[in-house]
Amino acid sequence: MGGERLRALMLGPPGSGKGTQGQRLAARHGVPHLSSGELLRAHVRDGTVLGQAAADTLRRGDLIADDLVNRIMLEQVLAPNAIGGFVLDGFPRTVAQATAAYDLARRHGITFHAVVLLEIPPEQLLERLTVRGQLSQRVDDTPATIRHRIDVYLDHTSPLIDYYRQRDVLEQIDGTGTIDEVTAAINSRLDHLLPPPTVP
Ligand code: AP5
Ligand code: MG
Repeated sequence: MGGERLRALMLGPPGSGKGTQGQRLAARHGVPHLSSGELLRAHVRDGTVLGQAAADTLRRGDLIADDLVNRIMLEQVLAPNAIGGFVLDGFPRTVAQATAAYDLARRHGITFHAVVLLEIPPEQLLERLTVRGQLSQRVDDTPATIRHRIDVYLDHTSPLIDYYRQRDVLEQIDGTGTIDEVTAAINSRLDHLLPPPTVP
C-alpha cells in the first residue's frame, strides 16, 4: 500500500458524464467521489436548514452561493477519508470557488493531478438529460431548466477551462462515445499521470 492517491476534478456541462465517469474513476483509484450536486440534493431530501435554503435555487438550475458551497465542499475535501485523494465532481464551478480551493490546497501542500474536461455538444446534453428527466427524480431535468443549466455553465463555469489550462492540468476528453469508451479514454490519459493502485 502507500503511494500517492489521485486528486482529480471532473469538469463539463450538465449531462456530460461527470457523475458517471467520476464514480468509475474514484472506484478505480480507491478514493471518494465527492459530488457537490449530490451533496446538495441530499440536504434537500433530508430537509436540513441548508437544504431548505438551497431547494428553490436547485429547482431553477441556478448556482448556490459560493460561500456556502465552499464551506460544505472544502470540509469534504479535508475529511479524514479524503485527505490525500478524491475525485471532485461539480466543484469548483466558478472562478471564485476555484480560487478558494486553490488557497486551501496551497495551505495543505496539495494540487490536482488532473482536471478532466468532458467535451460534448449541447444537442447531446439535451437528449441525455431529457431522457433521464422522463425516468428520474431530478427536479432540474425539465427541458427549460436543462437549457438554463447549460447557459449557467457557459457563463460561470466554462471560464475554468482556461483557468486550469493555464495551470497545465487540463485533460480534454471526448465525452460523446459510449460510457465504456469514455472511461477507457480517461483511464488511458490518467494512468500516465498516476497509475491506479495495484491490488495485492
Ligand atoms: P450537478 O448535480 O453537478 O448537476 P450538473 O452539472 O447539471 O450535471 P448532471 O449531474 O446533470 O450531469 P453529469 O455531468 O454528472 O452527467 P451524468 O453522469 O449524470 O449540479 C446540480 C445543481 O446543484 C446545480 O444546478 C446547482 O444548482 C447546484 N450546484 C452543484 N454544484 C455547485 C457548485 N459548485 N456551486 C454552486 N451550485 C452548485 O450523466 C447524465 C445522463 O447521461 C445520465 O442519465 C447518464 O446515465 C447518461 N450518460 C452518461 N454518460 C453517457 C454516455 N457516454 N452515453 C450515453 N449516456 C450517458
Ligand atoms: Mg452529476
